[in-house]
Amino acid sequence: MPSSAEHLDRVIQEIAAEMAARPDRGTVATYIPELARVDAGAFGLVVIDADGHVAAAGDCDTPFSIQSVSKVFTLTLALGMVGDRLWRRVGREPSGTAFNSIVQLEREQGIPRNPFINAGAIAVTDLILSGHKPREALGEILRFMRFLAEDETITIDEAVAASEQRTGFRNNALAYYMKSFGVLDNPVEFTLGVYFHHCAIAMSCRQLAMAARFLAHSGRNPSTGLSVVNPERARRINAIMLTCGHYDGSGEFAYRVGLPGKSGVGGGIMAVAPGKASIAVWSPGLDAAGNSHLGRIALESLTKRMGWSIF
Ligand code: DON
Repeated sequence: MPSSAEHLDRVIQEIAAEMAARPDRGTVATYIPELARVDAGAFGLVVIDADGHVAAAGDCDTPFSIQSVSKVFTLTLALGMVGDRLWRRVGREPSGTAFNSIVQLEREQGIPRNPFINAGAIAVTDLILSGHKPREALGEILRFMRFLAEDETITIDEAVAASEQRTGFRNNALAYYMKSFGVLDNPVEFTLGVYFHHCAIAMSCRQLAMAARFLAHSGRNPSTGLSVVNPERARRINAIMLTCGHYDGSGEFAYRVGLPGKSGVGGGIMAVAPGKASIAVWSPGLDAAGNSHLGRIALESLTKRMGWSIF
């Protein structure tokens, strides 16, 4: 009888081999020119169980652009700074629209639907920035990531940040539109500067799965015993990941995978099986909603084989 760690190791290796053989790999994001250079053939998967066992397969140590996955950490940080006051400037309902959509902002007085669509994440970044210089706010975010992942080597990919800064016209539109409703406190260029840079944080699947452990274990890192957030806050962040983490693909992700998860256009998905495991998968090709195509398929296979769906 294999141990549960051996079983997990085998499942991870099998999924990575299955994914490597698939011809359908989705389409790499090109609207941020620097992301278009990434190898569409890459695939990494890391699962860390409650005992701290790390099961890793494929390109699990290659850093990739975490993009919107960073929004989970900025939300956590902002909630720590301002508490429930955050919900005065951003909602917590699924949007049913694309991650960069502007349509709801006019109808809803500049209040973004949730903290994971671009408008919502920009509003959250603006809260973190308040009273600080952009460099200080960014340092705070980066320190938080390094603390969570227990890895001081995590950095920002400046080429990706500069690439988005040059071409992020849609995000500029979203930010100025919110500013016109008084939703942002800081100069738009400061807020967007911090936003583009936190999206450009580069992490491997191993680092990301490490950073997600507190969400899988009621707000506490199970190996250090350190509490990052209280259990109620961890539950609530997971609820928002489940309902909004994949934009207008969130229903499909819940239906197929059944875990709270957050995607990024770099092809990463971070997911948590509450009480059981933290997970990071990376495959750069995206589906029509901008979520990793093979990442989702790999997670569907993982939750099926491990019986980890929360439903
Ligand atoms: O603002 C943007 O468009 C990117 N920095 C992040 C978008 C993203 O990752 C959407 N995720 N699937």
